[in-house]
Amino acid sequence: MKTFYIETFGCQMNVHDSEKVIGTLVSEGYSQVDTPEEADLVLYNTCSIRDKAEQKVFSRLSSFKRDLGKGKKFAVLGCVAQQEGERIFEKAPHVSMVVGSASYNKLPELLVQLEAGNQRVTGLNLDTEDTFETPFARRDNPHRAYITIIEGCDKSCAYCVVPFTRGPERSRASESILNEARMLAESGYTEIQLLGQNVNSYRDPSPAGLDFASLLEKVAQIPGLRRVRFTTSHPRDFVKEIVDVMDRNPVLCNHIHLPVQSGSTAVLNRMQRLYTRDEYMRRIEWIKNSHRNIAITTDIIVGFPGETEADFEETLSLLDEVQYDSLFSFKYSRRPNTPAIALDDHLSEEEKGRRLTILQEKQRGIQIRRNAELIGSIQEVLVEGFNRATGQWIGRTSQNRVLNFSHPQGEEANLLGRYLDARVTRSGPNSLVGEPVNLV
Ligand code: 5AD
Ligand code: SF4
Repeated sequence: MKTFYIETFGCQMNVHDSEKVIGTLVSEGYSQVDTPEEADLVLYNTCSIRDKAEQKVFSRLSSFKRDLGKGKKFAVLGCVAQQEGERIFEKAPHVSMVVGSASYNKLPELLVQLEAGNQRVTGLNLDTEDTFETPFARRDNPHRAYITIIEGCDKSCAYCVVPFTRGPERSRASESILNEARMLAESGYTEIQLLGQNVNSYRDPSPAGLDFASLLEKVAQIPGLRRVRFTTSHPRDFVKEIVDVMDRNPVLCNHIHLPVQSGSTAVLNRMQRLYTRDEYMRRIEWIKNSHRNIAITTDIIVGFPGETEADFEETLSLLDEVQYDSLFSFKYSRRPNTPAIALDDHLSEEEKGRRLTILQEKQRGIQIRRNAELIGSIQEVLVEGFNRATGQWIGRTSQNRVLNFSHPQGEEANLLGRYLDARVTRSGPNSLVGEPVNLV
């Protein structure tokens, strides 16, 4: 029996790609093992969004240098594979396969070449009409399933490597998406997450011609689904119809992730984000005017080249204005091929670090306040796990908050995948604590 081990870095797109890769490997006769030591084939599905993410794969690979020639094979998949291509064979000579995400549908052929002893197997073509679809996706989470609706990205944000690593935008036919969602609902999944680098620019290539809002409404109406989420949205393509569809369909979760990146219009302009602060705020108003209680989260980059203290202050004031429920924040990192490398006035690591700390402190205060406002409220949670260390169940609210709670029977209660109502009793910056009210 041939065995493989896979480790995944990066975003949900990568997590879901790995599920597809695992399904394909299993259908090709491989079986999955839990450690690289046990495996004949070790795969790393990589992320190159920031330099630190990229370094991770090379540090993993370097710990296996001694295995060179011992029959174990190494493969690099995903964004670093696409970005670095054949250079990976020079940097890490024990790697014998390098495959970008647009070529995973060729994996069966590539595995044949690998097994035949080819030392430099590559799948790096980005020039593809194919959207990787496989009947084999092996999903680990039995309740929440990811579905890809659009691959690649046609924007050209000045800092971002994704258009180079995932290629041009390709939308998947709506019938294929809806069939997969129906099939998942029939087999017991209650939560679905629609994925794409920019889901808002979804354009159905089939005659039905759905846009994202209409697709969302059709998915929401599939019997059996209780929660539908989507990520990621780009403010430029985010239209009011999306909020209208959410208003009409309670199955769509109370959460929108709308990455802003900066609160300064001047920085947004240099980032080539294609919207101003005011235009972004208009979208926030649509969301806040919804009769649903929609949580808003975002991504922020601090220290983009040329970001002045005044620009940074504008990002801080945006946080005050929006009152985000949560955010991901990053120091700007130079990425190969991206337009921002050529800009003047790169900031020092120290200054970027200083700004990041200030931003995170501010947001922490906002989250403490926002979460405390929920004390006493009843929240429906999907139970996602059990924490042995604390003896508590881990639930997630529609707004995507983590809510921990105890149950008299502890782990024996077997609540995984159940929906129940909990009353919030305590709160912290990153999670809530509650007690179950009843099983619903
Ligand atoms: N440096 C820092 N952060 C980045 N992101 C994307 N590219 C970079 C970069 N070069 C962040 C953005 C994006 C998130 C996924 O990662 O905030 O929304
Ligand atoms: Fe990382 Fe972006 Fe690739 Fe996702 S798409 S794995 S975040 S580089």
